[in-house]
Amino acid sequence: MPTHTPNNRLAIRGHRFLIIGAASLVGSHTADLLLAEGAKELVLLDNFAFGAMQAIAHLQDHPKVRILKADIMQLHELLDATQQIDGVLHLAAYMTLGFDQSPWAALDVNIRGAQNVVEACRRNGVKKLVFASSNAVYGYGNGIKGELTETTPFHSEGAPPAAILYGASKIIGEQLCRQVHQKHGLNYVVVRYSTVYGERQHYRAANALYIMSTYDQVRAGKAPTLPGDGSETKHFVYVGDVARANIAAFQSDASDVAVNVSGVDTVTTREIVQHVLDYCDSKLVPISPPEEPGKVRLTSGGAFSIPHALAGQEIQWQPSVSMQEGVKRLLQWRQAQDH
Ligand SMILES: NC(=O)c1ccc[n+]([C@@H]2O[C@H](COP(=O)([O-])OP(=O)(O)OC[C@H]3O[C@@H](n4cnc5c(N)ncnc54)[C@H](O)[C@@H]3O)[C@@H](O)[C@H]2O)c1
Repeated sequence: MPTHTPNNRLAIRGHRFLIIGAASLVGSHTADLLLAEGAKELVLLDNFAFGAMQAIAHLQDHPKVRILKADIMQLHELLDATQQIDGVLHLAAYMTLGFDQSPWAALDVNIRGAQNVVEACRRNGVKKLVFASSNAVYGYGNGIKGELTETTPFHSEGAPPAAILYGASKIIGEQLCRQVHQKHGLNYVVVRYSTVYGERQHYRAANALYIMSTYDQVRAGKAPTLPGDGSETKHFVYVGDVARANIAAFQSDASDVAVNVSGVDTVTTREIVQHVLDYCDSKLVPISPPEEPGKVRLTSGGAFSIPHALAGQEIQWQPSVSMQEGVKRLLQWRQAQDH
C-alpha cells in the first residue's frame, strides 16, 4: 500500500547519493541531474561488466563525485558503499538480450544482486531507495494490448523466454523492496521505465537498438527494415525524462509504490523509421523482410500504451520530450561519435 508522508521525502540538495550500475545510459544522466540539483556527494558504483567508463568519464574529476568499482554480488562491497548514504538508485541489471546471452549471470545480478542492494540499504539505514524496474513486468506476447496500467497482470503466452525471464526478475526485485519495507520500514519507490533512449545510447536494449540499427542502415544507404506492416505500437521514454523521474521519486512523499515512467506518447515502428529518415534527410523506402524464427527482436504485441498518470499523482512527474525531438537528440549524439 502506498504511503505518503513528508518523512518519505528526500531532498537532493545537501544529501549523499549512490547510483548502482552508474556507468549506464540512465545512470550517467541521473548523475548529471543529481549534481545540478545540489547533491552533497555522489558515489557512482559499477563493476563495468558492460557499462563503460566513457559514460561517466566527464564526471571523473568532479569534486563531489567518487567512482567506485564494485560488484553487487559482493554484499560486503555494498555494505561499504552504502555507509553514510541517504539515497540509493539501483540500476544494475541485465535486460532481455542479456537473459538471452547469459541467463546465469542475469539471474544472479537481477535477483541475488537486488536482494544484496536492499539488504545493504536496510542495514545502513538508507533513507530512500529508488528501484529501476520496467514495463517488462506486464510481460510480452499476444495478450499485451491496450493500456498497461500499474495493476496489469504479467502475461507470457507467446513471448520469448528471455523476455519472460527479464520481466519475472524485475517482479522479484520489486517484491524484495516491498518485503524489506514491510519488515523493516525501508522507504522505496519503484519506477517502471518503458524503453529508454537518448544520448549515450548503448546497443543492449532490443527496442532502442531498433532506432540505432535503422540509423546505421540509412547511413549505409540501405533501405530500413520494418517488422510486419510497421503498425506495431511502441512506447519509449527519453532518458532526460527518466533522470527527472528518478529525482522526483526521491523528492516525493510517496513510498511503497510502483509507477510507470513512459514518454509523452506512443509511436509506431513506421513512425520511428520516418523520424530517422527525416533526420537523415533520406528518401529511402522501408522494406519488410520475413522474420527469423527465435531471434530476439523488438518486443511484439500489437497496440499497447503505457499510461503515466499515476507517476503524476505519486511523484509529481510527467514526461516532456516528444519522440521526434528525442530521436533527433539521440542521432545528433550518435553522429558526433563518428567524428
Ligand atoms: N534501457 C532501457 O530501455 C530500460 C527500460 C526499462 C528498464 N530499464 C532498467 O533500467 C536500468 C538501467 O538501464 P540502462 O539501460 O541504463 O542499463 P545499462 O545496461 O546501461 O547499465 C547497467 C549497468 O549495470 C552494471 N552492472 C551489471 N552487473 C553489475 C554488477 N554485478 N555489479 C555492479 N554493476 C553491474 C553494468 O556494468 C552497467 O553499467 C536497468 O535496471 C534496466 O533493467 C532499462
